[in-house]
Amino acid sequence: MQAHNIMEDIVKNYLDEILSMRFDVCTCDICRQNILAYTLSRVPAQYVTTEIGAMHTLIEQIKVEHSSKILRELIVAIQLVKDNPRHEKIEDDNQAYQLLLKQIKLDRGADFSHYREALLKRRMNLRMKMCKVRNYSEYLQVLVHTPAEYEKLFEVLTINVSSFFRDKDVWTKLKVDILPAIIAAKKKSGDSHKIRIWSAGCSHGEEPYSLAILLYELLEKDAQNIKAEIVATDIDKDCLNIARKGFYGKDAFKEMSSYYKNKFFIPVSDGFQIIPKIKELVIFKERNLIHDEAVFGADMVICRNVFIYFNRSLQEHLIMKFHGALLKGGYFVMGMTESLLGEARHIFRTEDSLCRIYQKI
Ligand SMILES: C[S@@+](CC[C@H](N)C(=O)[O-])C[C@H]1O[C@@H](n2cnc3c(N)ncnc32)[C@H](O)[C@@H]1O
Repeated sequence: MQAHNIMEDIVKNYLDEILSMRFDVCTCDICRQNILAYTLSRVPAQYVTTEIGAMHTLIEQIKVEHSSKILRELIVAIQLVKDNPRHEKIEDDNQAYQLLLKQIKLDRGADFSHYREALLKRRMNLRMKMCKVRNYSEYLQVLVHTPAEYEKLFEVLTINVSSFFRDKDVWTKLKVDILPAIIAAKKKSGDSHKIRIWSAGCSHGEEPYSLAILLYELLEKDAQNIKAEIVATDIDKDCLNIARKGFYGKDAFKEMSSYYKNKFFIPVSDGFQIIPKIKELVIFKERNLIHDEAVFGADMVICRNVFIYFNRSLQEHLIMKFHGALLKGGYFVMGMTESLLGEARHIFRTEDSLCRIYQKI
């Protein structure tokens, strides 16, 4: 029986797995062969003459013993081959990526040039994998020839995860301190204007409806003459359509008390429908935060878990935009992992650093 280097099979398997997740390296036969050869020269060969049946156990044994070494060497080999391909570079990765962004802007008016590149590429690669394409140029062809792919791409680029009362501590602070302070200030000023809140990047509406619930309860208790309006905006029209319906599955309620759920939702077949008097406090509008006009005259702007998409300079620009949208003394609420940048640190007062709540000076 002929001896066979079983290590080659193992390395090939790992290589296929890694390359299926790396769209930044060439996966042609020449490069693949080079990576393989380099790695095999650095890991011990394992010649076997075993029958196929016993092979499985042997492979598992070798993996346990050598996998970290194999993976380390593979990563080095991939980088080496990436930096020194033995052929003309098939495409300039970055140039093709920029071209792709340009085409998306041209076709759909969506400008992702200020989005964080690593995050964008990671998400785009998910779609490229589904479409079985190897690089940005090929993906561009898919978008040009199958426009329906755009909807799928936008779905992964603008992840819309949200839930009612997401990050409980923030909502306690809003309920106990911030919203009562806004109501008290309105009462004191005798201002006939409504309380106005802008929920920017509202996804399916869980955030603006959570606000509407708190405001409704507070106003119902002791300020029935004060009206409230929450303007909720997002770039994603499918999300907004869901938000306007106000119908949610049980997952959206993980952080909502059953008191609110029973008071403000009606159970229907496989979910819950928000009641009209909460729904009518919220107006949904399709708006791109980057290019479209702000919602001016706001007592509060809440923009959480949206900044992750944007690079630092765009984040700074948006914070200034929100500052401009707020009335004097108005509040700005950010996501738990986000923070004030640049100039903005001097024009906002920190109200609660843990909950990321700031006040316009
Ligand atoms: C993770 S969700 C945040 C939802 C909610 N604010 C929360 O924290 O639960 C992010 C939302 O930002 C929206 N978004 C991304 N880029 C945007 C842009 N340029 N303009 C407006 N909305 C955008 C997405 O469509 C998505 O619905």
